[in-house]
Amino acid sequence: MQATANVNGLITAASDAKISIFDRGFLYGDSIYEVVRTYSGVPFYYDEHFERLENSARLAQMELSQSRLFLKEEIRRTVASSNVQAGEEVFIRYAITRGESVLDLDPALAKKTSYIILVKPIVDWNPRFYQEGMWLAMPSIRRNSPLALDPNIKSGNYLNNILAVGEVKKLGADDALILSLDGKLTEASNSNVCFVQDGKIISPPHEAGTNTGNLKGLTKRAVAEVCKKIGVGYSERPLRPEDIPSMKECFVSSATREIMPVCGIRFEHGAKQVFPSGGGELTKRLIQEYKKYVAEYTKTHAKEAFF
Ligand SMILES: Cc1ncc(COP(=O)(O)O)c(C=O)c1O
Repeated sequence: MQATANVNGLITAASDAKISIFDRGFLYGDSIYEVVRTYSGVPFYYDEHFERLENSARLAQMELSQSRLFLKEEIRRTVASSNVQAGEEVFIRYAITRGESVLDLDPALAKKTSYIILVKPIVDWNPRFYQEGMWLAMPSIRRNSPLALDPNIKSGNYLNNILAVGEVKKLGADDALILSLDGKLTEASNSNVCFVQDGKIISPPHEAGTNTGNLKGLTKRAVAEVCKKIGVGYSERPLRPEDIPSMKECFVSSATREIMPVCGIRFEHGAKQVFPSGGGELTKRLIQEYKKYVAEYTKTHAKEAFF
């Protein structure tokens, strides 16, 4: 397959795609997006991703000029143009920007949202992240407060997360475990975080009122479904670094990482906590059960396959 882009209807090789320098996504990060991947050609949690996109638009006060149906058709066209073959899988990133305007922040000046679709092979994560797990470190930079820039707007502005990752990479970590302004655990730079405590899964909540500032991850939602199916406890509550010593396992979740073990966490003051290499017993079980859940989903949604 060939990495392929679609900018407002114009499909090209991804490397040839162009946007205007007056596009507010480029100018101000005034955009929202989703990433979906396929399994056996079926986009996983497709409608759920659109629901989240529409929620991001609502939170960002962005009126979408393109309907869900239209975007789905454009995504289908882009996937078809990528020459993807049966047996391959695709990564689809679709972004909506507020559109073009003169250099002025007033959102009302943008009259029509733009769409940018990127289709490419799925991400190949470092195999060490699965075989051993990732090292997370807590950076000094705090997660955006929901009162300032709600992390539930999946926006094209990742500067907060970029600064966090940049800081912990210098410490030798693989990713950041970002704290909120009031010191609660939020999420990693582009994934949610879950722990195992007393044989149950625990994760920080996403609701704005809890001030834990993290994106309502769809993979984490699938993890919760899997837990329900296999009778493992799953709950969300605010967590702090002081809670980590009582946690036995840790993993992150995202559409492209799926369930990825965490083998250690570095606290801000430099102390470290180690988790089982390659994931503990429950993490390993969830990785297997997640695969089954996805296989079942793929079967029941087979008619939605792109290829
Ligand atoms: C900041 C952030 N948190 C969490 C996630 C995980 O979300 P999902 O499981 O829907 O991919 C992502 C994924 O892009 C993210 O960017």
